[in-house]
Formats: sequence, C-alpha cells, structure tokens
Amino acid sequence: MSSQQRFFRFLQERIGLDVASIGAPMVERALRQRCTAVDAFDLDDYWLRLQQSAEEQQALIEAVIVPETWFFRYPESFTALAGLASKRLAELAGSRPLRILSLPCSTGEEPYSIAMTLLDAGIAGQSFRVEGIDISPISIHRAEQGRYGRNSFRGAHLAFRQQHFDLVDDGHVVHERVRQQVKLQVGNVLDPALKERAGSYDFVFCRNLLIYFDVPTQQRVFEVLKSLIHEQGVLFIGPAEGSLLARMGMRPLGVPQSFAYVRQTDAEPVFVSKPLGMAPIPPAPSPAPRPMPVPLRKPRVASPPRAVADAQDTSAELLAQIAQLANAGNSAEAKAACARYLQQYPPHAQVFYWQGLLSDIAGQSSEALSHYRKALYLEPQHAEALAHLAALLEAQGDSAGARRLQERAARQADRGAEQ
Ligand SMILES: C[S@@+](CC[C@H](N)C(=O)[O-])C[C@H]1O[C@@H](n2cnc3c(N)ncnc32)[C@H](O)[C@@H]1O
Repeated sequence: MSSQQRFFRFLQERIGLDVASIGAPMVERALRQRCTAVDAFDLDDYWLRLQQSAEEQQALIEAVIVPETWFFRYPESFTALAGLASKRLAELAGSRPLRILSLPCSTGEEPYSIAMTLLDAGIAGQSFRVEGIDISPISIHRAEQGRYGRNSFRGAHLAFRQQHFDLVDDGHVVHERVRQQVKLQVGNVLDPALKERAGSYDFVFCRNLLIYFDVPTQQRVFEVLKSLIHEQGVLFIGPAEGSLLARMGMRPLGVPQSFAYVRQTDAEPVFVSKPLGMAPIPPAPSPAPRPMPVPLRKPRVASPPRAVADAQDTSAELLAQIAQLANAGNSAEAKAACARYLQQYPPHAQVFYWQGLLSDIAGQSSEALSHYRKALYLEPQHAEALAHLAALLEAQGDSAGARRLQERAARQADRGAEQ
C-alpha cells in the first residue's frame, strides 16, 4: 500500500469520501497541511499520531471536506417545498408537526433557508421542526452562531435578507424566530444509528454530498435516506446526484430544477396534488434586462477612454448577471446571457466556465467538456474549470486525464496559499 493509500482508506471508511471525486492531490495537500500543523516528521509519523488522537482525526476530516453552501441554493426546490409542506400539514391535520432533515447542513444556510421558506409560507413555528446534521463540528458551530458574510448570499433575490436577518459589523445574523426552528447536531450520514429514525421525516435534503462518494457508498446512503423519509415523503438532492436514484426505486417529482424525488409507486404521493406537483413551477422572476448605456458625447477622462470604461462596466455587469442567474438556477436565462456576452465582448474564461457548468448540470457532457476546455485555453489555472473538467473526465473513465488536471489544481492552490 502506498504511503497515502492508508489515509485514503481512512477517509473512505470514516466519512465515505471517494478520493477520486476531489482528486488525490487535494487530499495530499490536506495531509501536508496537517503534517506541518502537528510537526510530524513524515507520513509514517503522522499516521501514528492520527491513530492515537480522535482530535487529529477530526482535524484531517475538516481539512478535506468541502463546506461550500449558500442561502436558497437551487431556489426552485424551496418554492416546491413551500407548496408540498402546506399540503402535507393538511394531511397530518394537527397530529404532529412536520419534520424536515438537512443532512449535510454544512454551516446552516440550507436548514435556515428551509425554516424561512416555511415561515414565509405562513406555516406557524410550532407546526414544523428542521434538523441539521453535519460531520464537521466547526461548521455546526458556525451554523449555531448564525452569522453570515457575503458568500452566503448569492443570486439576485435577496429580499429574504432584510426580512430574516439583522445587519451587524461583519455580516448578517439570522433572527431568533428562524433559529429556534432549527436543531443542529454533529453527525455522520454513515452512522448506523440513523436507521433508528426510519420513517421520521416528511422531507429530507441531502444535497452535494453524494458526489463525493463512490457508487457502493452512494447506494448504501440512498438506502438510508430512503428509509428516513416517510413513505410518501420527498427527497431533495443536488443537480448532479440523480443518476442513481432511478435504479433505487425513486423518480423525479416533476418540478423543474427542484431536484426532488419520491418513491416509485403506481399511486402518486397523497400530499402531492397534480397541479402543484406535476406542473412546472414558474422560475423566480429574473432581473429586467439592462438597457445598454448611452455613450457619452464628450469623453473627458483620459484613461481609460469613456467608451472603453463603459464597455468594461457593462461586461462586468453582464458577467455578474450570468453568475446570479446560474447560482439562482435560472439555467436557460444564464445560457442566453452567456451567448449575449460572447456576441458583444471578446472571449472570457469565466463565461466558458459558466457554459460548461450549465451544460454539465443539463447532462450534456460533450458540450460541457468543450466549454471547460475553452475556459482553460484562455485561463489555464481557472480553478473551477479545472475541478469540473477533472470530475467529468473521471466520470468518463479517463482517470489519467483527471489526475493531471487535479495536480494542476493542487499546484495552483499551493501557490495561492503561499501568497
Ligand atoms: C458541499 S456541502 C453541502 C451543504 C448543503 N447541503 C448544500 O448543498 O449547500 C458538503 C457537506 O458535507 C459534509 N459531509 C461530508 N461527509 C459527511 C458525512 N459522512 N456525513 C455528514 N456530513 C458530511 C461536509 O462537512 C460539508 O459540510
């Protein structure tokens, strides 16, 4: 066994991580970080320390997890939840509150978004309970503090921030009214004790976790998730995680961009009425198209010339708009904005990256490959394009190609850390 393999196996066994999903170089980087942090002589020495210290095991796990999350990620799923939850409550007729699980919940943006959604839908606090679980004690601690910076608020529709948060010096703090709906806990999706909660939840959110697992672990976790939801409950997953579910007896609910699945039965789930469950929910309104700025007649500013400055402003605005649309799940509009950008301005790596991601989410692998490659042609160290292209190559069986890109990404990350 190579000196790293035992660490890879440790991570696989403890948290389900398939090292190939994030790339060996990323894990090697985490190992280097931890060796430096504890002053280990070499990997053998670090391995011994890892065996002897539960604290160090947790530190290594913290160094490899991907806590990326934000409020109202995939907004259509929350629109769908609001309607489904009201119907489920009518079904329950006061017999018990709704139970919703967010696993993994990372730093809390997802469970708090669920609570805000239900409160905004007019559901009383005593009628529902949200539970958030994550393997990372650091993330759970942040979630408990409920204090969020800019990165947690993405997309164009941020009205919820005024309504549910207080502005403080270094960010926004979520209101107590929302916080008291959410119970947070450190936990592992692989923990057999979860089975004791079988059938407990009306809705389970398990998003952007299974992409880090190999297929047997995904299957095992799906079985657990399926058992956790009530027979007629709904499972919300991430956009790239649907391929396995059909084979596991689950089918899409039919609400575009909600990534919501129900058990495969002849009968419809009782609390999904046809009009809401099957008719596409219209996407959230998108910002009105910006008028082109009127060029100034007398350019007085010498550097840069006004026309150039206008063009730069507008191209930056269009880029921001693409990001907002894509992050908000408005794929069609984001694609159209990318096309508009490429018609009006010179090629830009970030635009090709967005095109790649949008094709990737839509399952159009060859288009995605070509867009990611264009992004890397223009900007060889574009971190997200490297990571996504690597994942795509790996999924297509090109492990060597994936590894090359992952090494490039890790070298880039190392350089970033040194600066
Ligand atoms: C990318 S975040 C996803 C957060 C949120 N669900 C979302 O989609 O925005 C992935 C989270 O999975 C957590 N995680 C990784 N392995 C886990 C495990 N075995 N059990 C529970 N949580 C885990 C990480 O700590 C991290 O916070």
